[in-house]
Amino acid sequence: MEDYKRSLADKVVLITGGAGSIGSNLTHAIADLGARMVIVLDDLSAGYQWNIPALPNVLFVKGSITDETALKRVFAEKPDLVFHLAAFFANQNSVDYPERDLLVNGMGTLKVLEYCTMARPQRIIYASSGCSIYGSAAPLPLREEFISMHLTSPYQVTKMLGELYSNFFLHHHNLNIVKTRFFNSYGPGEVPGQYRNVIPNFIYWAMRGQPLPITATDDATRDFTYVKDIVDALLRASYFEAAIGKEMNIASGYETNIVQMATKINKLLNNTSGIRYAQHRVWDTKRRLLASIERAGELLGYRPQTDFDTGLQNTIQWFKAHWEEIEVSAEFPPGMSSATRPIELSTASAAV
Ligand SMILES: NC(=O)c1ccc[n+]([C@@H]2O[C@H](COP(=O)([O-])OP(=O)(O)OC[C@H]3O[C@@H](n4cnc5c(N)ncnc54)[C@H](O)[C@@H]3O)[C@@H](O)[C@H]2O)c1
Repeated sequence: MEDYKRSLADKVVLITGGAGSIGSNLTHAIADLGARMVIVLDDLSAGYQWNIPALPNVLFVKGSITDETALKRVFAEKPDLVFHLAAFFANQNSVDYPERDLLVNGMGTLKVLEYCTMARPQRIIYASSGCSIYGSAAPLPLREEFISMHLTSPYQVTKMLGELYSNFFLHHHNLNIVKTRFFNSYGPGEVPGQYRNVIPNFIYWAMRGQPLPITATDDATRDFTYVKDIVDALLRASYFEAAIGKEMNIASGYETNIVQMATKINKLLNNTSGIRYAQHRVWDTKRRLLASIERAGELLGYRPQTDFDTGLQNTIQWFKAHWEEIEVSAEFPPGMSSATRPIELSTASAAV
């Protein structure tokens, strides 16, 4: 086993947002690597308890990163590592609820970092977002040094704020923070929903025989990153010294056309309803997204392992294996009354 994986054995690890799509995969990986305890702090506002691995070394604490009692409880365990993934996700959600976005992604992140100054974990990994840093004018492939002040959603503003706070705590409080910028995660563990990413929503609709709504232009692309590759990058970011204080893209390094991806999902699931064109979202100003992963390669030895077709098939298999839970969760997401049926909305995210 590689050293960066072996190093997780016997560690106490805090994962905020550990019931979410990336967090649940990370929780599983770290628990399997023999961590003494993986503490998941999640308020289940967008995550699902059924998605958290039920393993003896996983402790689930239901609570918010904005709540002092919950923070005191989890930091009392003196985590060696903190992965800060909890967030109000994502662009359209933040346009609809900008104050909640600021509260969670701004104040929540500030509070987590304040508790870190007292608990002094060996490493803190902040989950940043490629779409929140580069704006639409950046040349492709997107490189870490090109940042934009011209952001187009509250989520982008507050995810960048998290990076700015990380820099403050790094310099002023000497916290060992690493900033990982994810690009369009997909894979097992992401439940579809109104504010979720395009791939789980497309799979869900295709499995129900519905047409897939395209809100982008025909030539629009994204850099879809398989969630287990993101998890591998996070484990590496918690280990390699060279990463401390740095920001780095975590992506696949490939562009995938959205319309072609939709057609592929329809084919894999025998969905004959095709695609349909839906209204463009004002905040979505990025036609193409492609990240340079050179820096993560240099600092972490990160190399994505999963090609898109394999990742898609694994995701579909997970959907089939968990269809009952997924259907209920998608129809009645956390915090929604049974009267609302958000997954049916035609405006549901088609290209986060
Ligand atoms: N998924 C992506 O494509 C992507 C891309 C870029 C960045 N990111 C970032 O990665 C992180 C994880 O993303 P994800 O896709 O797993 O999101 P997710 O929504 O699936 O998971 C986030 C989790 O945080 C929890 N949460 C929300 N508010 C909370 C609060 N106040 N207190 C405690 N828990 C709270 C939710 O219940 C959920 O389980 C986020 O910080 C996100 O901004 C994700």
